[in-house]
Amino acid sequence: CGIVAYVGHQEACPIIIKGLKRLEYRGYDSAGIALLNKSGLNIYKKKGKVVALEEELKSKDTTACIGIGHTRWATHGEPNDRNAHPHYSNHKKLAIIHNGIIENYATIKQKLLQKGHEFRSETDSEVLIHFIEDIQSELNCTLVEAVRLALQEVVGAYAIVVMTEDEPTQLIAARKSSPLVIGVGEDEFFFASDATPIIEYTKDVVYLDDNQIALVRNNELKIVNLENERQLPYVQKLEMELEAIEKGGYDHFMLKEIFEQPRSIADSMRGRVNSEEGSLQLGGLSEYMGKLADAKRIIIVGCGTSWHAGLVAEYIFEELARIPVEVEYASEFRYRNPIIREKDFVIAISQSGETADTLAAIQLAKSKGATIFGVCNVVGSSIARETHAGAYTHAGPEIGVASTKAFTAQVTVLTQMAIAVAKKRGTISEGLYRQLLIELENIPRKVEQVLKAADKIKEIAFIFTYARNFIYLGRGLNFPVALEGALKLKEISYIHAEGYPAAEMKHGPIALIDEDMPVVFIATKDSSYEKVVSNIQEVKARKGRVIAIVTEGDSLIHSMVDFVIEIPKTHEILMPLLSSIPLQLLSYYIAVMRGRNVDQPRNLAKSVTVE
Ligand code: G6P
Repeated sequence: CGIVAYVGHQEACPIIIKGLKRLEYRGYDSAGIALLNKSGLNIYKKKGKVVALEEELKSKDTTACIGIGHTRWATHGEPNDRNAHPHYSNHKKLAIIHNGIIENYATIKQKLLQKGHEFRSETDSEVLIHFIEDIQSELNCTLVEAVRLALQEVVGAYAIVVMTEDEPTQLIAARKSSPLVIGVGEDEFFFASDATPIIEYTKDVVYLDDNQIALVRNNELKIVNLENERQLPYVQKLEMELEAIEKGGYDHFMLKEIFEQPRSIADSMRGRVNSEEGSLQLGGLSEYMGKLADAKRIIIVGCGTSWHAGLVAEYIFEELARIPVEVEYASEFRYRNPIIREKDFVIAISQSGETADTLAAIQLAKSKGATIFGVCNVVGSSIARETHAGAYTHAGPEIGVASTKAFTAQVTVLTQMAIAVAKKRGTISEGLYRQLLIELENIPRKVEQVLKAADKIKEIAFIFTYARNFIYLGRGLNFPVALEGALKLKEISYIHAEGYPAAEMKHGPIALIDEDMPVVFIATKDSSYEKVVSNIQEVKARKGRVIAIVTEGDSLIHSMVDFVIEIPKTHEILMPLLSSIPLQLLSYYIAVMRGRNVDQPRNLAKSVTVE
């Protein structure tokens, strides 16, 4: 979910609506806003996207200099007007927006029901605001005190903003395991789940920490912790530019982000790789390099696309640095009793740096004494702060829900890590080391070349627009690329797709192949090339329709398959950085042709801050 709130001298409504649109990638089942003016507290909510709410507001009085807004990704209760935020307290004096989950809401609700509270929704968030009101009336204390006492009782994760009819200059916010940024303007304050709704008004921000409560009242910001100890706000300067979060002439953010990859990959190496000097430095890693080089095992945790980047890294670390690697879904890792030994090194991968399962996984590993390294895109995010050290991917804000440039940036950073540690351990020859650095520097230019195939990929997409299933096959480093290609297609086109290691096909999926089944092969010239060629023949013999991603100049596969997409040569280790890109474009064009909402596919959210 995404939250935005404003208090100051401007009209709150347009600022909040614009901010919510920027946060829609976090969820878009329903949206709502609470505005306070002389007539009192007015709450409007609407199922669907923020535009639906905006439409509804056209006929309403929206004058107000204070307000809170929310765009939702449903956890408790189906997406409808009633379950949308903001939620009211029992006496309709208080309103809340909440991102996260209150795990013990049922117990609290039970007690409140006995006291005669009436609930209008099925959400845990409504329970929280009733609870706050109940404490305030029982103890006759200030609202901020009631919020603090309520949060002491709460088990779960939250970022909240609370407002009251009684105080037209006051907003109260708090966070635990769910991000919240406060923008500090001139006589005005902004609250949001990330900095994108704030950036055009002010660059001064305060990232709220876990267990902190912020009170803004009469133009003053005060922060306390859950024990009521005063905390000094640390005001940081945002480095992000507004244009980085706008579409810049592209039809969709996803397309813009795909085309940004020559730059984003270069940015993820900037100041790190220098092939002329033969140097490779990841600032965040230097202090931990000894530990990493000494590691008996590397455990990589992540979710979704980040998990796929981890699978690519597994091959590269094992190949170059000869350290055993395990890649784990963060959600699985944390719910077992994982074995973490001394000299295990954990790498957490997360674009947003906020994924709840990944955050919990590293907290668990940390409690068992592991050294944790983060590979995050969002600067200052929770995971970036929770890890011992890390390397940012520097891909710039990624708005499209389906991850593209963040994936290639993650792979680039992890590759640099693997090369650096291999060098340190002496498991890589000087020749290969130099060659990889040179090849890394060439990647952005080669990505540009891959992107030139966009029109051709669009034509192929047209032919397969109405396919009902897809299979993606690759071997070695191209196996995770196949998984990622299938995930991209599923996410945005809703076509069922599976990724498999090409050789595994014959152990099951081959039964699916007939003339209606498109099969995407990632068949670049590498050590398993001949084997993949055999796999292609197996599919062709069963009349499957094959689209192959091949290395330029490959005439053999050309003569065997239905469609080829050529990509430039590079070292095998770096191939995923090129081979994943045509698959992003293929999914994109198919989804567009099917009329899908590419940037905001149904049921998904970019940053999943619930477990
Ligand atoms: C969500 C997104 C995926 C993403 C995953 C992990 O499910 O829809 O695109 O890969 O979370 O996100 P992270 O921010 O941790 O990389």
